[in-house]
Amino acid sequence: MTSLRAVIDLDVEGPQISRHLYGHFAEHLGRCIYGGFYVGEDSEIPNEGGIRLDVVEALRSLSIPNLRWPGGCFADEYHWRDGVGPREDRPTMINTHWGDIEENNHFGTHEFMALCELLGADPYINGNVGSGTVAEMSDWVEYLTRDGDSPMVRLRKANGREQAWTVPFWGIGNEAWGCGGNMSAEHYAEELRRYATYCRNHGDNTLYRIAAGASNADYHWTETLMKAISCLGCEKDPRGIFQGLTFHYYTVPGAWDHKGSATDFDGAEYYTTIAKAAHVEELIAGHSAVMDCYDPHKRVGLILDEWGTWFDVEPGTNPGFLYQQNTMRDALVASVHFDAFHRHADRLVMANIAQTVNVLQAMILTDEESNELILTPTYHVFEMNKAHHDAASLAVHLLGEAQAIDASGTSVPRVSASASVKDGVALVSLSNLHLDEATEIVLDLRGHQVGSASGRLLAAEQVSDHNAPGRTGSVAPIDLELGDLEGGRLSVTLPPHAFATVSLTLV
Ligand code: AHR
Repeated sequence: MTSLRAVIDLDVEGPQISRHLYGHFAEHLGRCIYGGFYVGEDSEIPNEGGIRLDVVEALRSLSIPNLRWPGGCFADEYHWRDGVGPREDRPTMINTHWGDIEENNHFGTHEFMALCELLGADPYINGNVGSGTVAEMSDWVEYLTRDGDSPMVRLRKANGREQAWTVPFWGIGNEAWGCGGNMSAEHYAEELRRYATYCRNHGDNTLYRIAAGASNADYHWTETLMKAISCLGCEKDPRGIFQGLTFHYYTVPGAWDHKGSATDFDGAEYYTTIAKAAHVEELIAGHSAVMDCYDPHKRVGLILDEWGTWFDVEPGTNPGFLYQQNTMRDALVASVHFDAFHRHADRLVMANIAQTVNVLQAMILTDEESNELILTPTYHVFEMNKAHHDAASLAVHLLGEAQAIDASGTSVPRVSASASVKDGVALVSLSNLHLDEATEIVLDLRGHQVGSASGRLLAAEQVSDHNAPGRTGSVAPIDLELGDLEGGRLSVTLPPHAFATVSLTLV
């Protein structure tokens, strides 16, 4: 069996891993909001104000730090006033991006804020630049965050909410180079400055304004926005025009017109998928390098607010609803992303998987017939990695034969790993990316004595194994047997295509 050594200096703490790297995304798309998060007050499914309580409970176990809403592409055709006030009076609209279906606006601002309160998550609201106005966005900020007396405060109170909410994260448009208005970087930079100026900090609420960033490796976009950050009239907020800058990157095994199946794939497609997932690290480093030129002190945060696998939709489902299954391969895509995120925690401050329920690389699938809740393999990676939230990153040096290569020559690291420490406990995340072979990893732990160790394993016989109605526990974590801890060395053996976490109590 191939054996690697992973050297970890437990006393050399790196940058803090923001819990917001484990952020989420809920768009009015397919069955993410309707049927996923929200079933309406009259549903037989237990709910509070229409919000599905089983979904809330499952997500609370992940301690999800933030939730982005209402899109995505939908954000740039969403007009917030349509989603407040008595539900029966709310106008409908056509969701032109996703399925061309009628949106009844029953889930709006108050429902979203109630959902965030139930989840204990910070709201990340994405405003409309593509088809909205500066005044509309400015009013929405006032409606949500101002106290005392003002036109928007009176409207909010008339709609049943006395107190202002706290809204930390505010997105100014989405994918402005595409569905958010098809703008050039230069044009969007001007729009961004105008919109951001009027997204005010009301009372104690301080907005972290997020600029809509690049697609993949469009470094020109990032550079153009970084040049636009300073402003003469920033006395109202000396932090500048925006505080965060996004980019989007999806793991698509094939081409956009034939992306590949979520469950039916061969070894070559598996390795291609993992290689494409690992590519995220090059993109994070590339955007960070551009930002370093304009912001060497790292005041602006890089945010990957859409990531994850994008496959062909499940056969027989609406192509505009982006519903896909989720296998052990997705779990490894997630773990590889998190390892890269942890290594770049100095600049990358937030990431949002697309999307939380029933869309793309979801945590949760809800079955329409049985109403069963299915926790996906990706869900389990989020849960097993929870102790990385706000922990100090630790470098992991992998020594030994480190590549897995498939017959067609696609090569991926055999093992992906990262580690962190918080409150005297270190967590090591390990992925054996080899499709067919087990791998031994000897943890070489230095700088601290380790008192005790325990491990958890997420594995599956086939990498395409997944959870489904009637077999919701097919892929779920189990205890991992560890070798003896001797002289700071601990042997961990991972079966093929598996993910594990090892928790170490330091003395
Ligand atoms: O997550 C699905 C879509 O992907 C989002 O709406 C859009 O921003 C991106 O293109």
